[in-house]
Amino acid sequence: MSLPKLSQSYWLQTTTIPSFPSLTQPIETDVAIIGGGITGITTAYLLAKQGVRVTVIEADRLCHGTTGHTTAKMTAQHDLIYHELIAHFGEDSARQYYEANKEALQSILHIVKEHDIHCDLSVEDAYVYTTEETQLYKLEAEWKAYETLGIDGAYVDQLSLPFSIQGAVMMRNQAQFHPLHYIKTLVELAVKYGASFYEQTVAQHIETTGRPIVRTKNGATITCDTVVICTHFPFFDPAFYFARLHAERSYVIAVEAHERLQGMYLSANEPKRSLRCTTMDGKPLLLIGGESHKVGQGINMIQHYEALQSFCEHTFGLSHVLYRWSAQDLITLDNLPYIGPIRKSLPHILVATGYRKWGMTTSMVTARLLTDLALQKEHRYAHLFTPSRFIADPSLNNLFTEGIDVAKHFLTGKLEYALRTPHDISKGEGAVVNVDGKRAGAYRDEQGTLYVVDTTCTHMGCELEWNNSERSWDCPCHGSRFCFTGKVLEGPAIEPLQQLKGDE
Ligand code: FES
Repeated sequence: MSLPKLSQSYWLQTTTIPSFPSLTQPIETDVAIIGGGITGITTAYLLAKQGVRVTVIEADRLCHGTTGHTTAKMTAQHDLIYHELIAHFGEDSARQYYEANKEALQSILHIVKEHDIHCDLSVEDAYVYTTEETQLYKLEAEWKAYETLGIDGAYVDQLSLPFSIQGAVMMRNQAQFHPLHYIKTLVELAVKYGASFYEQTVAQHIETTGRPIVRTKNGATITCDTVVICTHFPFFDPAFYFARLHAERSYVIAVEAHERLQGMYLSANEPKRSLRCTTMDGKPLLLIGGESHKVGQGINMIQHYEALQSFCEHTFGLSHVLYRWSAQDLITLDNLPYIGPIRKSLPHILVATGYRKWGMTTSMVTARLLTDLALQKEHRYAHLFTPSRFIADPSLNNLFTEGIDVAKHFLTGKLEYALRTPHDISKGEGAVVNVDGKRAGAYRDEQGTLYVVDTTCTHMGCELEWNNSERSWDCPCHGSRFCFTGKVLEGPAIEPLQQLKGDE
């Protein structure tokens, strides 16, 4: 059995999202949204529907980032989290987190129904299970939290999966869908309500004295009342977000199946496995996800796909992998997303980040919250998600650990001495090389063309690692990613890598 050669998201391959021009001149609007993923588009839809003038700009193409590479489970069951939330934030905050996500799910279901969106939506129960007896105490604690918070679910010790489990916590009536079929309609509706979209438009800076002005890399400007930053990692960082977030990469394979899996599943024990089914041309397609690791700090990346493939073959007896793709997610110090003013003193610059892999419901939580903030209305969950919340345990520990981790990778990369030169790189290979005594990165494509770049990350100077599965240079410090040509694929970096001469 072999893997598809290219990493291609099933969702992106089966949807045509409308395309838009880039912004080239000064404009004026009420709300400028930076980032054209599900959060930016949903916020644009909600605001435009209320008559607000909205402009969305996207550095690449709409939905080609994490939104186009999700597993698209819509659930308030965000792994094992409620026991932890009660312990760290108290029962009221844990309940608010659940209710915010439950309401978000209901909002999405309502929009799908209201506009009759054909997006393969199905209501499913969601399960977190364990196959290890030693992990049972975690599930029992989580179930106790469900009972305390009144979450509609059950504790079970059997599942309709082809392997036995020790126990599972179920949350009833969650959902799954084809995210891009849904989002495509939201884009069309937002445009109908008057929103403007621009692609290939990179935001570079925000002037915050007076009325906010967003400046783009090609010299265009957007003058507005409110800026909403949903660029995944905030491109504008006046409050040290780079020290309060870390990026993780995870992998998905889509495999032709014989029968449809009922329910959505996630293992509590390692290695993590996420399971759900969708339908392709009337046949079931099983999505298996997992193998998460910090960006730029994984093993040979193709081995992550091979691990999922091996699990699939041994567990389900399925071997026909049709698609494979990977996604990048951001995680905050205390596991709650940061949604609200980017800094207390900048109430008109709003940010949303750190969804911890649960972007489908969290994007709607964000869109509802930021819509109210942009309209200067109170919002029930504003306090819970505010980025300026008090940093309590375990945040301080995590802040310390993140700092050490970044410093370690900063130094390790600088001290590494490469023995190979660009001349040694074969077709289809990428590696760290030595150019004039300095560390550089080289990749030779299948036609033999050599690309050599400076591997110093343009964000804050850490050294990049080669990702052989995506053919990219990934930063172990804050997760920026660059194409082998040097072009930015994921921020927080804005500037491309310097291209070097790779004399042979
Ligand atoms: Fe921050 Fe690379 S992403 S140094």
